[in-house]
Amino acid sequence: MKQLPTIAEMKAACREVTRRGKTLGFVPTMGALHDGHLSLVRASKSCCDVTAVSIFVNPLQFGPTEDLAKYPRSLERDATMLEQLGVDLLFIPSADEMYPAGARTYVTVEGLSDKLDGASRPGHFRGVATAVAKLFEIVRPDSAFFGQKDAAQVAVLRKLVNDLNLDVELVVCPIVREKNGLAMSSRNAYLTSEQRQQALVLHRSIMRVQAAANTGNHDAARLVEAGKQVIAEEPGVRLDYFAIVHPDTLDPVTDTSHGALVAVAAYVGATRLIDNLLLPAASR
Ligand code: PAJ
Repeated sequence: MKQLPTIAEMKAACREVTRRGKTLGFVPTMGALHDGHLSLVRASKSCCDVTAVSIFVNPLQFGPTEDLAKYPRSLERDATMLEQLGVDLLFIPSADEMYPAGARTYVTVEGLSDKLDGASRPGHFRGVATAVAKLFEIVRPDSAFFGQKDAAQVAVLRKLVNDLNLDVELVVCPIVREKNGLAMSSRNAYLTSEQRQQALVLHRSIMRVQAAANTGNHDAARLVEAGKQVIAEEPGVRLDYFAIVHPDTLDPVTDTSHGALVAVAAYVGATRLIDNLLLPAASR
């Protein structure tokens, strides 16, 4: 596995892959890798000749009061895991490399960037979209792999790729969970063992909605109430949002029978966690 810290080196390595007629898969990450990230790497390995991964804790997507400074970093361990999985190229730029002094261009996906996590984290999706647009131009992958875990991010990036006519296929992979249901997240490292138990309520809340939908309840307002009630039963957890929306527009739906995204965000102590579930269209 080649580790490439500069944009010039990464571009050269990626262009060489394409010149040799090989397909290039790309998995952007912020590191502190877990099985969720690794599932994306495996997906890329299974369908592309060459796999590139980036590890970049993107300062632009963290708000001024958020956890940029303490975000978990484990580059050596991450690199070993990626090497073992057979990753070919690892891009590890510095913040100065990605955003040199004087950079003034940002990518904003209007109408989506301020919904769900974007509403609670102003500027977050502008940071994500700007970093990913730059990474796409540096790597120019045939396919890029993202997790359904970050459902709003998927909606923002789909729109970005569509609106900018980017030649990249977005592949969205299922949420990888611990055996107890907790969605894997780099931020789970912040949780005490007691908080890990409390955090299970996020999964329980969306499962409650799924169970109600399975029995024929498609009234989004009632399903949201049912989900919120589950969260309220766990005193250590403070709800940020519980929403049932269209998975592409992120606008609330009133009826889930055509399919919908059920998304929850909540604070467990100071740690903000998210989870979601795609309700399929009801069969008639
Ligand atoms: P990060 O949080 O490191 O996540 C990298 C990728 O792993 C994202 O596509 C995310 O959805 C996916 N992922 C995280 N947890 C997962 C899980 N439990 N199951 C499946 N996939 C999971 O998302 C980012 O980084 C950044 O915003 C980034 C896209 C790299 C831009 O900076």
